[in-house]
Amino acid sequence: MTQELTLIRPDDWHLHLRDGAVLHGVLPETARHFARAIIMPNLVPPVVTGADAAAYRDRILAALPEGAAFTPLMTLYLTEATDPADVAAAQASGLVKAVKLYPAGATTNSHGGVHDTDKVMPVLEKMAEIGLPLCVHGEVTTPEVDIFDREAVFIDTVLDPLRRRLPGLRVVMEHITTEQGVAYARAGGPDLGATITTHHLILNRNHILVGGIKPHYYCLPVAKRERHRLALREAATSGEARFFLGTDSAPHVDALKEQACGCAGCFTATNTLPLLAHVFEQDGALDRLEAFTSRNGPAFYRLPVNEAHLRLVKHQTPQAWPEKIFTEAGPVTVFNPGFPVFWHVES
Ligand code: DOR
Ligand code: ZN
Repeated sequence: MTQELTLIRPDDWHLHLRDGAVLHGVLPETARHFARAIIMPNLVPPVVTGADAAAYRDRILAALPEGAAFTPLMTLYLTEATDPADVAAAQASGLVKAVKLYPAGATTNSHGGVHDTDKVMPVLEKMAEIGLPLCVHGEVTTPEVDIFDREAVFIDTVLDPLRRRLPGLRVVMEHITTEQGVAYARAGGPDLGATITTHHLILNRNHILVGGIKPHYYCLPVAKRERHRLALREAATSGEARFFLGTDSAPHVDALKEQACGCAGCFTATNTLPLLAHVFEQDGALDRLEAFTSRNGPAFYRLPVNEAHLRLVKHQTPQAWPEKIFTEAGPVTVFNPGFPVFWHVES
């Protein structure tokens, strides 16, 4: 017996598309299934000003396959030199939907990020005034703090003080990975949201390390203990409005992943929706998948839900997807969950 599921066309509230050859290679993977995505600004050099974001948006639109109906929602990379007036103008024109806070050194191309929150307070105050969300990479970078504790320490020492100092600021806790992240998101009001990735619903830290190191399972924030993964599953499948999908699909060519110092990122754009159907079905929550992929995100970002739909079908036999996406910069390995998946996107 085949099973079917029709969803409002999903959006991805946290996506890396890169630029140039990789952008051209990976963009069709997202545009095939998603109507919109919040586009991360951590290019080299980063997308800092409204003018940078407009130029990047135009490069994305130019790279779209013929006939694709996909809208990139642009973000700005917050630096200690960001001009509040430029941010406000970029929002007023409809171009920019969020500003991204990377603690300096936290992840890929974050060295131009924020060292000292005091220095960005004028920008954050302007954002609170105009209702522009701050997307936060929530990890401290202090060398003494263990990498598995960096999210929980960030919440206590940076995020909570910031939200108390500026209660009107709308914040998205990006790619939460811990039970502390889930609990903190739940304790916030309607101005606090949290994205959850597909891979963090599937991986715990054993998957990365047991039986040999798996570079394609390495991402940041790094996957944590099993009890944290279970907390994320419970949150994502709860249907609660504060939790929504941000895949953090982060392509790096294989040569940069499979080496002595491999880049962080899981590339999930190709198979995220079948994987999520699998996960939600396992947890008896297929009826709440649409809230996670298609309703809660637009509600937080104060955007309409999409009009188009997408159909998922569960087959009798495991469904295949490409092992790699071939770009002119090299192959990008698609996330392999390590178990058979019977769901497939049909239209
Ligand atoms: O795994 C990750 N990859 N985490 C991030 O925060 C950044 C991303 C990237 O840009 O590669
Ligand atoms: Zn990311």
